[in-house]
Amino acid sequence: MQKYNNVFILDHPLIRHKLAIIRDKNTDTKQFREIIKELATLMAYESFKDVPTQEIEVETPLEITKQTVVKENSIAIVPILRAGLGMVDGILALFPAAKVGHIGLYRDEETLEPHEYYCKLPSNIEDKVVMVVDPMLATGGSAVDAISMLKKRGCKRIKLMSIIAAPVGVEKVAKAHPDVEIFVSTLDRCLNDKGYILPGLGDAGDRIFGTK
Ligand code: PRP
Ligand code: URA
Repeated sequence: MQKYNNVFILDHPLIRHKLAIIRDKNTDTKQFREIIKELATLMAYESFKDVPTQEIEVETPLEITKQTVVKENSIAIVPILRAGLGMVDGILALFPAAKVGHIGLYRDEETLEPHEYYCKLPSNIEDKVVMVVDPMLATGGSAVDAISMLKKRGCKRIKLMSIIAAPVGVEKVAKAHPDVEIFVSTLDRCLNDKGYILPGLGDAGDRIFGTK
């Protein structure tokens, strides 16, 4: 894959360890869901390192000092339904004040084209750093559409976090939205003829919600 300035692969031994567990077809729903959440926390730590901050005064037992904290009302998390929901709590663990919007998209199983069925976003989302989350970035169609929907509603600072990505999907998003930073924990080999990522982990939504 060509090198893109807006693509970041968050490779860390702990992330690799957790990836190995969720790839395993014998991992049950409970553990799968827990690890998706933990991976989202680990990825959020790194991908929000430029989070907006503000200075406040803090009184220690000894004196008053100026300290830096995360800026109020500066972050929104937008999961792509359904599977993106599994990542929200992991990010809220680090940014409990973040607002959460929802975009509903599903892939047509034949054409692999995304279809929109829901969109509800926090007020003033255009002023926030928006993190779109979806564990799987396959053809990239869902992520490209979700980001376009956010841009239409005025969002200017958008990031995307996906746990497992196929090179073709990353390239599609990077080309369509070069202003969006894309954070993934691994670039897998390719897609199969049904649009599933190989080696991947199967259908993330089904594995999070136990629907198959
Ligand atoms: C999966 C996944 C992404 C999308 C990725 O969702 O969670 O949203 O496919 O594929 P793409 O990059 O080719 O668009 P799916 O459509 O299976 O819906 P679900 O989350 O409701 O299971
Ligand atoms: N969506 C999934 O849940 N898994 C894939 O491998 C591709 C798309």
